[in-house]
Amino acid sequence: MIEVRPCTFADLPALIRVEQETFAHPWTKESLHTALSARETHLALLAAEEGQVFAYALFQYLLDEGELWRLASLPAQQNRGLGQRLLETGLDALQAKGVHRVFLEVAADNGPAIHLYEKLAFERIAVRPNYYGQTDGYIYRWEG
Ligand SMILES: CC(C)(COP(=O)(O)OP(=O)(O)OC[C@H]1O[C@@H](n2cnc3c(N)ncnc32)[C@H](O)[C@@H]1OP(=O)(O)O)[C@@H](O)C(=O)NCCC(=O)NCCS
Repeated sequence: MIEVRPCTFADLPALIRVEQETFAHPWTKESLHTALSARETHLALLAAEEGQVFAYALFQYLLDEGELWRLASLPAQQNRGLGQRLLETGLDALQAKGVHRVFLEVAADNGPAIHLYEKLAFERIAVRPNYYGQTDGYIYRWEG
């Protein structure tokens, strides 16, 4: 059964593996360690099954605003609902902390991610032309 829980430092190697298998420009262990250390302003959640980490999400927040910094599922585990569970759990947890607006930025050609964000009521509010080389960046906002 899939469990969703906060990330700990012990999860760092597994999170790095997700980063490396998922992103062309993965975060380093140091960047992730820094984020996990700043607990008052960061929320990191992972989805695991039988001790195996399959996906994770990292939010940064301050006062009533937050930002989704990372969301990734291992390629073999995508389209199983993990991304949606992480995002919904994270938004609920942030709302409980008084966060009522969450922003994110996504490449215009990232169909699966855009589909997921729009399904969860994120609204596209701006376009950054050629933010990713030839590809535009979209800014999305969620209000809870
Ligand atoms: C975006 C991402 C995190 C989604 O994670 P996931 O665990 O596959 O998400 P879910 O299984 O919850 O899928 C959510 C929705 O996206 C859709 N989706 C997932 N993979 C898809 C794909 N390859 N093509 C089209 N739609 C897809 C699902 O169908 C689902 O919608 P539905 O329930 O209406 O069918 C994952 O694709 C990923 O890790 N991508 C690479 C990293 C990335 O781009 N992160 C986002 C950066 S902004």
